[in-house]
Amino acid sequence: MATVIVLTSGKGGVGKTVASVSVALGIALRGKKTVVVDLDIGLRNIDLALGCERRVIFDLINVMQGEAELKDALIRDRHSDNLFILPASQTRDKDALSKNGMAKLIDGLQELEFEYIIFDSPPGLERGAKLSLYFADEVIFVANPTRASLRGCDRMLGVLQQESKKLQAGDGEVPERLLINRYRSDQSGNTISRQQMVDSLGIDLLGIVPESQSIADASESGTPVITDKTDPAGAAFDVVVSRLLGENLPVEAENELMAGKGGLFDKLLRR
Ligand SMILES: Nc1ncnc2c1ncn2[C@@H]1O[C@H](COP(=O)(O)OP(=O)(O)OP(=O)(O)O)[C@@H](O)[C@H]1O
Ligand SMILES: [Mg+2]
Repeated sequence: MATVIVLTSGKGGVGKTVASVSVALGIALRGKKTVVVDLDIGLRNIDLALGCERRVIFDLINVMQGEAELKDALIRDRHSDNLFILPASQTRDKDALSKNGMAKLIDGLQELEFEYIIFDSPPGLERGAKLSLYFADEVIFVANPTRASLRGCDRMLGVLQQESKKLQAGDGEVPERLLINRYRSDQSGNTISRQQMVDSLGIDLLGIVPESQSIADASESGTPVITDKTDPAGAAFDVVVSRLLGENLPVEAENELMAGKGGLFDKLLRR
């Protein structure tokens, strides 16, 4: 059975797409057959983040509406033979996404023997976000260390409890973990500490990714930052991938990784 991981957030622009491509590629680079699905209908950008925009022929909605075969719509990533991309449609109506269509898509991906299915959601409670939450085995909440970002997450956590298929079937809660992105050691007045975020949400921490120019550069070049583990953001995503794959890394893992590389994480984790 494939594991379905959904990246979601309350507010837009917090780094779901950046995180989706690094997490998906990180899992693939560890030998697992992985697909990253862009659910941001009308605003496709996974293809840009992985530098395969010129190879898009069919998209998710073409597959859901029976206009293309799933295997013909999947694009093999140039960074890993284990990673495939299913692009979103840029033009279609968001209502083209249906629960039935999603169920068929997941079945099709299982048949193709994917081990991990990563859904990059649109922000907030859009259709694509709600539908993917229904099928989630694991949810990653992406948030920036600001009160506004945190408030959105809280609302989504409530929705998840109602939307999840697992919960509705009485199979328990879907694990939810928090990924803090764009953490800066020079915090200004509207940001809050790591511990405050985790405490107020009552959710486990999956990782902390620093504010990083290399992430902005990576988005432009179509090469996810996880390909460079000497970069603090790349190393942070590598820790996230380890935790997702079941490694029980303590919070100090970020500390150790960053030792000798300018001490960015060392400083912020000791606050
Ligand atoms: N840690 C970071 N450091 C610097 N820039 C970042 C970081 N994370 C994300 N960004 C930048 O923030 C912008 C938004 O990121 P991204 O597109 O991943 O957000 P999103 O949550 O997917 O947005 P949307 O809700 O619109 O889908 C991008 O320009 C990206 O390069
Ligand atoms: Mg996005």
